[in-house]
Amino acid sequence: MLQHMKMPRTHFVILAVLCFAVDINDSGKVGPSGPGVYPTSGCPPPVAMLPCVCGGFSIITCSNVTDEKQLVSVFQQNFTDKGVFGSFFMENTPIKTIPSKVFGPVVRFRELNMDNNSMLEIIEEDAFSGLEETANAIYLRNCNIKSANIFKAVSKLISLTVIHLNDNQLTSVPNHAFENQELKAVFLQNNRITSIGGRAFEELRSIVQVDLSNNLISEITDNAFHLNFESSDIPAFVLINNSISDLPLHAFGELKTPFILVLNRNRMTSLKQEIFEPLLQFFSQKNAGHLYVEENSFCCDYRMKWLVEQKSYFKYISHIICQDGRNLKDYTVDQLGDCSSL
Ligand SMILES: *[C@@H]1O[C@H](CO)[C@@H](O)[C@H](O)[C@H]1NC(C)=O
Ligand SMILES: *[C@@H]1O[C@H](CO)[C@@H](O)[C@H](O)[C@H]1NC(C)=O
Ligand SMILES: *[C@@H]1O[C@H](CO)[C@@H](O)[C@H](O)[C@H]1NC(C)=O
Ligand SMILES: *[C@@H]1O[C@H](CO)[C@@H](O)[C@H](O)[C@H]1NC(C)=O
Repeated sequence: MLQHMKMPRTHFVILAVLCFAVDINDSGKVGPSGPGVYPTSGCPPPVAMLPCVCGGFSIITCSNVTDEKQLVSVFQQNFTDKGVFGSFFMENTPIKTIPSKVFGPVVRFRELNMDNNSMLEIIEEDAFSGLEETANAIYLRNCNIKSANIFKAVSKLISLTVIHLNDNQLTSVPNHAFENQELKAVFLQNNRITSIGGRAFEELRSIVQVDLSNNLISEITDNAFHLNFESSDIPAFVLINNSISDLPLHAFGELKTPFILVLNRNRMTSLKQEIFEPLLQFFSQKNAGHLYVEENSFCCDYRMKWLVEQKSYFKYISHIICQDGRNLKDYTVDQLGDCSSL
């Protein structure tokens, strides 16, 4: 995907974003939960744990479970509380649901690794009960998650810094989807998301990246990209390869903090003045923020006059390639074409 991008600046942003993701992955690896403390020693005898295994370095692996009942009954066993476990692994299982309070009354984790559970459709709202203050990373990639309950389950985890939900079957991002103030990165690419609800991300004070690429997004609600804080980071909303042709008038709500919006490879044909001028004005004021709209089929006519007349905005916007293959930045007003057939 990257090699198709034309602009070095975009490369830079996307690469920065990828490095950031890798960084999180590395720091997310967890060992014992304190000096000399191996909570694995709080596990019940191995036979009571079957089909799960308590490994060293505070890991519990349940990749051999075949149904929900088994999983629940393991965590109802007699664990002694010796602190927070590092990682839970449950990958490539046929499990369909993560039931309420799955980890029982005692066990807590910092990291949940649940990739490639190809039948997993539902995460109950209280699935991660008990992990509110401990869970900092969740991997649920390449499952079959359809139910929007996952957003409720996750919003309760106040220490969460990263959630990987890419390659699932989610169809929408609901209103107020996330409320986690520590969350730095949300990965939702390669789902079947068609809409983004209002104020979906506005409480994410630590956010650096929301990746919604390769979905089917065409419907964006007012305030979808509103951020209700001022941040020293410049968060990026990445929506490459969706079906966005237009944004609603109040897509960004009240502008409080600069951000990067990547709308490359969508269905934009023009940039409405009433939506994008306030945004570019704000970026100019703060001298920060950027709008990427590469690989859209722009038709540059009088509707883009406002932009041609205010060349200083181009500092905050990627190339806009018009119907004649030229960059809008190089246009004069009288060169704007006729797009009335669109
Ligand atoms: C899972 O089951 C297989 C086959 O019985 C066994 O070889 C493997 O060690 C088990 N893995 C875990 C983590 O329990
Ligand atoms: C649970 O484990 C503790 C510590 O190993 C032990 O003292 C206690 O008797 C066990 N309780 C049950 C119900 O097995
Ligand atoms: C999950 O699936 C992906 C893609 O098929 C694969 O690359 C990865 O190694 C798998 N992970 C596990 C833990 O099986
Ligand atoms: C673009 O998104 C569509 C729909 O989600 C997907 O099928 C396609 O593979 C994506 N294209 C690329 C290059 O990722």
